[in-house]
Amino acid sequence: MESKELINIEQNFLIQTFKRPAMVLDHGRGIKVWDLEGKEYYDFIGGIAVNSLGYSHPKIVQAICEQAGKIIHCSNLYYNAPQILLGKKLVELSCGDRVFFANSGAEANEAAIKLAVKYFKEQNKDKFKIIYMKNSFHGRTIATVAATGTYKYQKDYLPLLPSFKEAIFNDLQSVKDVYDEKVAAIIVEPIQGEGGINIGTEDFLEGLREFCDNKDILLIFDEIQCGLGRTGKMFAYQHYGVEPDIMTLAKPLAGGLPLGAMIAKEKVASVFKPGDHGTTFGGNPVACAAALAFLEVLQEDNLLMECQLKGEYFQEKLEEVEEKFPALVKEIRVIGLMVGLELTREGSAIVEKMLKKGFLINCTAEKVLRFLPPLIVQKEEIDLLVKTLEEVVTEIVFS
Ligand SMILES: Cc1ncc(COP(=O)(O)O)c(C=O)c1O
Repeated sequence: MESKELINIEQNFLIQTFKRPAMVLDHGRGIKVWDLEGKEYYDFIGGIAVNSLGYSHPKIVQAICEQAGKIIHCSNLYYNAPQILLGKKLVELSCGDRVFFANSGAEANEAAIKLAVKYFKEQNKDKFKIIYMKNSFHGRTIATVAATGTYKYQKDYLPLLPSFKEAIFNDLQSVKDVYDEKVAAIIVEPIQGEGGINIGTEDFLEGLREFCDNKDILLIFDEIQCGLGRTGKMFAYQHYGVEPDIMTLAKPLAGGLPLGAMIAKEKVASVFKPGDHGTTFGGNPVACAAALAFLEVLQEDNLLMECQLKGEYFQEKLEEVEEKFPALVKEIRVIGLMVGLELTREGSAIVEKMLKKGFLINCTAEKVLRFLPPLIVQKEEIDLLVKTLEEVVTEIVFS
């Protein structure tokens, strides 16, 4: 079936929650992906930070196939080995002590919010409010959308849960201003992704930790987009030396299969008892086997160091763009391969033109071109992207 026919069916049968360009992706290799008609694209958005090893990495494919041949699903009524081994691995890698597996980022955050509330219930303390940051993104469920400080995601679902309070990212005083003694937790992305690659300052994250310690509040880091190597360290909190009480992961964790994780320090984790929280699919053996393979490749192929170096290179190239088009570029924000180019104008026309020229990029927060390429991207591919971006910008500026 051709793309046109498929898209026509999609428009008649699927709920129209996504706005997508008129092409159907068919297969991929490395950082390249092809549509049904055979057109090739360089993917610089990587399935929104999911395809960190690119498409069809042989070790991920092998892990999935082997595990699928053994057992695909057994529910959480029974133990499965990949889930247990992955839990151990994540604890060894992180500052957390115990893991709960979910199916997505939003679900991992739901678990974190429930755990934080239960932690204080257990102590008979009346603390249940959650402080979140403006321009954050924590998911689309009712609780996580209440914690998502972006009005367009919230407006059709008002009134939202009243226990969520908004503060300003990188502004500690604003957190103190919305605080009251019923606050249980602060949830924050150390680096905001959907909000436009906004990098948390050291002062802010250190200040949050200190404030949480002083006021008996839990600190939740949502590392769903910025964690697992994306910034050149395994976890973004390692750039700051600030440890959260709870951390959430998802996106690249299982090499493209759905898997989320909530990792918590022992004092918090231990309040969840059998039956307090659960999921049918979370910690599925195939997803967990893929995740074990992903973490192995991340470490063995030295991808964290590579990610840092390539991020620096990407930044230099974007600075050249800024020199050539100073009126168009407001700011460049880069940490590892989490790359944001803030424009002085709306960016969707650039995204569309880049697509026509065979590059998948994305625009977030209206004016920020966002690049989240697979960590295996090569410098030559970054060169190609930047050259094409300059062509597109020239066309737009002089049209
Ligand atoms: C920081 C962050 N948290 C949570 C989510 C929600 O994850 P999911 O779409 O897997 O529910 C996202 C998704 O973009 C995200 O970037």
